[in-house]
Amino acid sequence: MSRDRKGDRKSRDRRGGQKQKRALSQTAPTTEGRGDPRLLEVLKGAFGKLEMDPDRLTHAFHTYPAKMHPMLAGSLIRGFSKPGDAILDPFCGSGTVLVEAMICGRRSRGVDLNPLALRVAEVKTALRGKRSRDQFLETARRLAARSEERVRARVDARAPLKGEELRWYAPHVLKELAGLREEILELPDEDRRAFEMVFSSILMKVSKQRSDTDGRETERRIRKGLTTELFLRRARELEERWGKLSAACRKLDEVHRPRMVQGDARHLAKLMEGREKIDLIVTSPPYAGTYDYVDHHARRYPWLGLEPEPLEKGEIGARRALQGKAGIARWDRELGDALKAMRAVLVDDGQAVLLLGDGQIGDQRIEAERQVERLAPVAGLSVLAVASQGRRDYSGRRNRREHLIALRAAAR
Ligand SMILES: C[S@@+](CC[C@H](N)C(=O)[O-])C[C@H]1O[C@@H](n2cnc3c(N)ncnc32)[C@H](O)[C@@H]1O
Repeated sequence: MSRDRKGDRKSRDRRGGQKQKRALSQTAPTTEGRGDPRLLEVLKGAFGKLEMDPDRLTHAFHTYPAKMHPMLAGSLIRGFSKPGDAILDPFCGSGTVLVEAMICGRRSRGVDLNPLALRVAEVKTALRGKRSRDQFLETARRLAARSEERVRARVDARAPLKGEELRWYAPHVLKELAGLREEILELPDEDRRAFEMVFSSILMKVSKQRSDTDGRETERRIRKGLTTELFLRRARELEERWGKLSAACRKLDEVHRPRMVQGDARHLAKLMEGREKIDLIVTSPPYAGTYDYVDHHARRYPWLGLEPEPLEKGEIGARRALQGKAGIARWDRELGDALKAMRAVLVDDGQAVLLLGDGQIGDQRIEAERQVERLAPVAGLSVLAVASQGRRDYSGRRNRREHLIALRAAAR
């Protein structure tokens, strides 16, 4: 996948003995394409980055379903914009495009309806100098020491979970998590927000849920104290990743921190208050009928005090909402409205590049590039080039294709 969906699976690199992540689900390395030859070259070049290691800078700090491959994002940003340009990702998820825009010296904006997405993106785009990182590590050690002390002294703590949600954790894990959370909540705002994401990044590992996208129950042996160890390990990892991001940004004349807002990508002009026009959109909208982001992050919301309702109501492409013929018509409206909203914030002749895979609604395969070709003119966009690659379909149906689609905003 050009998104990091299967890249979260790790494979062992026999030469180095190190774990390496890679995009696993390509069916064939061939890329088909059509349209403007120069742009097609850029799109094919971006697909060509998929074999590269996605685990760089802050990118792999926190899992997120269907993350974009960072090298693909960086390649599109460099190929379609110049330094100082304003870039928007209206489905920014965990912030892959935003991190890459930062290190390419572009101004960027991110929008997503998932409150967790923005929190992950915030921590992944944080610029912390050496002293601030040292302090962060010091705080991490202090938190871990207090948590160990709580475990030893069997101090009680209340988890902010109710009913069914409690069954996802062994009792001693629940207590350890609740203790860690109490310690984190005592911290000043900036640190609290960062440590909450460290906490969030280990939740799935210590819960009984298999993974973000696999809601089945599994048994894990989590001994007392392991939760705290994982927490400290992950905090150290974040400090190291921040160091790499800072180093990458030091080479730039000017660093632009991304601006982010929680909201519906179908209402971009309102969200951006019409203040700024965008030169380039690089984004990966949901694939029709493939994911349910609300469900994938259900374990995390109550621990972090995040409200999933806006996403429950406004998530587009959600598997739970797209059923039968009505589902197909609904997805057409959802994607059509998102394209119109993109056009509304682009400068005339501005460009957008979508990474979009074929969808599945019931028995119906939705061919994404055909759908975009049909909807784009209605939205005031024209298709300039399309590059497509085959992807394995893990449900056993015929393989899907994933597309990079370059669009231009027609002058009004
Ligand atoms: C494929 S993911 C994007 C992943 C992102 N590129 C990354 O690298 O992490 C699609 C995103 O669309 C978001 N989304 C779904 N419906 C939305 C809507 N109506 N408005 C804004 N974001 C939405 C989901 O929360 C999810 O983060």
